[in-house]
Amino acid sequence: MSKPLRKAVLPVAGLGTRFLPATKALAKEMLPVVDKPLIQYAVDEARAAGIEQFCFVTGRGKTAIVEHFDVAYELERTLQDRNKDDLLAALRASALPPGSIATVRQQVPMGLGHAIWCARSFVGDDPFAILLPDDLMMCDTPCTKQLADAYYETGGNVVAVEEVPMERVNRYGVLDIAEDKGRLVSVKGLVEKPPADKAPSNLTIIGRYVVMPEVIGFLSKMEKGAGGEVQLTDAMAKLIPTQPFHGLRYEGRRFDCGDKAGYLEAQIAFALKRPDLADSVREFLPRYR
Ligand code: G1P
Repeated sequence: MSKPLRKAVLPVAGLGTRFLPATKALAKEMLPVVDKPLIQYAVDEARAAGIEQFCFVTGRGKTAIVEHFDVAYELERTLQDRNKDDLLAALRASALPPGSIATVRQQVPMGLGHAIWCARSFVGDDPFAILLPDDLMMCDTPCTKQLADAYYETGGNVVAVEEVPMERVNRYGVLDIAEDKGRLVSVKGLVEKPPADKAPSNLTIIGRYVVMPEVIGFLSKMEKGAGGEVQLTDAMAKLIPTQPFHGLRYEGRRFDCGDKAGYLEAQIAFALKRPDLADSVREFLPRYR
């Protein structure tokens, strides 16, 4: 029996340099897609998978992220007085239950692996999900829920994966496949950002993971990998000899909101899903062909 998955770690310490000057005084995770900040998409997705405890790995200038999940009494009151029921419901849905958020600081940017290691006290002995908020998912079944279901089925570690053209594998963690069972792929190795000619496959990890707590022990060694950073991928690879490790070909779409074009595409795609906006977006889009 797999231990219940109730915890998630969300690394949010990145500087967001690709979106300067917008991110000079604003955390990149607070950039909205339509009317919801990226961080809330990730948190909502995690909640839909049964996650109850959240750890944000933050840094300087990121306090707005935590405040976003507070109860905003004055705003609620004002909306109530004005009978703005829809807005009130949206506002209330953004608050997390008391005591469900922890924050830890990653003072120095030393890589994703280091960020996760910073959450070690929060993780303790429990399995945990990791969500990278830059990766915005559009899925009928929320992506983290798909991973959680796979975790309860297989036990051990499960990462969401997708195929990319070979010339782009050097941006991702890449799977060395033991057995390809279609939806699930058992993994015999992982390589972080390999050059195309050294990549074991073109099946790459996206920013959604379910990881066993033993990964923290390997992260503690602070071994530097690709780009001179402590890589989560390298520490996860060390779990493979002793624990189940699977890739899950998730169903849905991913938008890379760490990239300007990806972020803009996400705006359009999410707006087109909104009944209050779809018609006007469809109407104006052709003007820009
Ligand atoms: C990180 C991980 C990488 C993964 C990617 C998904 O890379 O290190 O293995 O494939 O996220 O978005 P980053 O985008 O932080 O360079």
